[in-house]
Amino acid sequence: MILRPDGIRGTTITGTGMYVPERVLTNHDLEKLVETSDEWIVERTGIRERRIAAPDQASSDLALIACQRALAMANVEAANVDQIVLATTTPDRILPSCACTLQQKLGATKAAAYDMFAACTGFIYGLGLARGLIGARVADTVLVVGVETLSRIVDYTDRNTCVLFGDGAGAAVLQACETSVGVHAVDMHSDGELGEVLEVPAGISANPASAHTVAAHEHYIRMQGKKLFPFAVRSMEDATRRCAEAAGWSPGDIDLFIPHQANLRIIEGVRERLGLPADKAYVNIERYGNTSSASIPIALDECVRAGRLKPGDKLAMAAFGGGATWGASAMTWTIARQRPAVAAARHEKVREVVS
Ligand code: ACO
Repeated sequence: MILRPDGIRGTTITGTGMYVPERVLTNHDLEKLVETSDEWIVERTGIRERRIAAPDQASSDLALIACQRALAMANVEAANVDQIVLATTTPDRILPSCACTLQQKLGATKAAAYDMFAACTGFIYGLGLARGLIGARVADTVLVVGVETLSRIVDYTDRNTCVLFGDGAGAAVLQACETSVGVHAVDMHSDGELGEVLEVPAGISANPASAHTVAAHEHYIRMQGKKLFPFAVRSMEDATRRCAEAAGWSPGDIDLFIPHQANLRIIEGVRERLGLPADKAYVNIERYGNTSSASIPIALDECVRAGRLKPGDKLAMAAFGGGATWGASAMTWTIARQRPAVAAARHEKVREVVS
């Protein structure tokens, strides 16, 4: 392996996986809950349907399947994972961490596991953290998973938010590689000044749960969508440009751009500002809505399995979210599409573990 002169190792993604619950909630279903229409939702957001976790599925259950699929693709045993970084806004509970619950279910017996709260930017933050850990030889194998059961904190009487969000999980295995490929740059930012634009007002230390907070719907997401919109476009564009520059690319060199799936109009705005043609930006928002920290790794896994990424491709990913947080990454892709026989064998292995 080729190292930088200072001994820093390169980091790459060696496996991806995703899982979304079976239940589909369509725009027409939502028409029965709030004053809205399929036409309004599709025109303003691009969303047609989203997935909803079953009552007995917690975030760790969704994350488990996504992680097993990612580990199978990377051909890594759970017992060999050094660290699990679990990005979420909807952990199973506050204590123990969702990552520790996942660690036990996965059998990742030697892994240090912890939750990361960076809202929709969580996967990008996780990528940045994993790159640091692997580069500095603190860890050899890091599992980064973004998972959400947002349906548990969505107010289905609030049409401003309930049409947007969905449940799901996406994961990636990160390991060392040559420094000329893999992750070249990760750009991470936050601005607490924007905290109130997207919040869950009650439930923890600032406003503990009480009969009043429950009655006032304060355990649900509240959002000032109009304020977020321009910020989302600007922040994702800026972060992507910075990463491209750090990687020595111009934005036009990007082969595939995977943006956070919050709103089709936001995605289009960023893509146009970066000067990218439509076929270079991946969009799946119509099927899943906004799955926050899970949105990028779900999209990434779909691209990998569909063969949209081949070794040498320049991949940029970008996100923004509550906090506010935002960031991007630039990497040269390193793994080839799974050969069907290998993929099928690994799928069988996953099914054995899952069932
Ligand atoms: N159905 C019908 N009408 C609606 C709905 C709905 N579901 N929701 C809002 N409206 C109404 C509003 O009440 C408003 O009516 P009014 O003019 O009578 O007041 C009208 O539609 C227009 O509302 P706008 O807010 O101007 O609509 P806009 O075009 O801005 O779209 C949206 C709203 C989709 C929320 C958009 O602003 C957006 O996507 N913002 C970004 C939100 C986002 O990305 N959030 C996720 C952050 S990531 C994270 O960390 C979870």
